[in-house]
Amino acid sequence: MPMTFHQIHTHFVAEVSGVDLSAPITSEEAQIIENAINRYGVLVFREQSISDAQQASFSRHFGALEVPGLKTNITKAKNRRLGKFMADISNLDRAHNILDSESRQRMFNLGNRFWHSDSSYRAIPAKLSLLSARVVPQHGGQTQFADMCAAYDALDAKLKKEIDGLVCEHSLLYSRGRLGFGDFTKEEERNFRPVHQTLVRVHPASGRRSLFLSAHAGQIVGWPTPVARVLLEELTEFATQAQFVYTHHWRPFDLVIWDNRRTMHRARRFDDANQVRDMRRTTVAGEAPTVAKQPNNITDA
Ligand code: OGA
Ligand code: MN
Repeated sequence: MPMTFHQIHTHFVAEVSGVDLSAPITSEEAQIIENAINRYGVLVFREQSISDAQQASFSRHFGALEVPGLKTNITKAKNRRLGKFMADISNLDRAHNILDSESRQRMFNLGNRFWHSDSSYRAIPAKLSLLSARVVPQHGGQTQFADMCAAYDALDAKLKKEIDGLVCEHSLLYSRGRLGFGDFTKEEERNFRPVHQTLVRVHPASGRRSLFLSAHAGQIVGWPTPVARVLLEELTEFATQAQFVYTHHWRPFDLVIWDNRRTMHRARRFDDANQVRDMRRTTVAGEAPTVAKQPNNITDA
């Protein structure tokens, strides 16, 4: 059966049918999917009952995988529930029990409720994220996506000119700060040194411009912090208006791929103290930084 793509939002997002991701795909099929990612920004695959290993090998068609937690250090290796390349986007501990309501991990996970682009705090931000739903809660827990190309296109010409060439600082210091975390260890301070990202980026495949915003962005280089924060907030509010947003209502075994180079996303509330939500993410690393040089030659290693 040939693969088909059905666009489900005015600006972006397509639902894909005619492919079984639990079986290996050919490089031609991978190319068709990559072209569709470049075109639609978000792809929804339904009824894909895949293992972690199948998810990882499918993801590798699109580039090298990020190792989650390198900078975040939320979960020490011995406490991890999943393998090295799987980001655990669940509310479960290693024993598959719902996280204690006071746990630090639960608190950190709440960061996903803010609009963000994955790994924008890394010197080379993420290319793609692939999120597989294994167990979904009865109510809530949707994921929303915002099309940052459509948002950029809709900015007025004067504002486009004002933001042209601006560079932002992205760091977990800022996104965790929003959650009320402030007491960082020496190691965290080192890991969380801000990286630079251009505010307007050009998609390498489509040539389209987009706003590169994220909860991790907390400063514009050379600007007074409050002036920067106000502009970033205003742009975020503009870019996440209803007409630019798609809300994904999860069913078990949905797999959603999004292009972090042109979208932001966030998780919606659910009863995380009582209901299980087991989602697993693989992340395809980006290919290049968005700026010519990082401060202090920061790398992702
Ligand atoms: C992620 C993420 C949102 C969600 O996996 O990167 O932000 O709805 N997930 O779980
Ligand atoms: Mn995310």
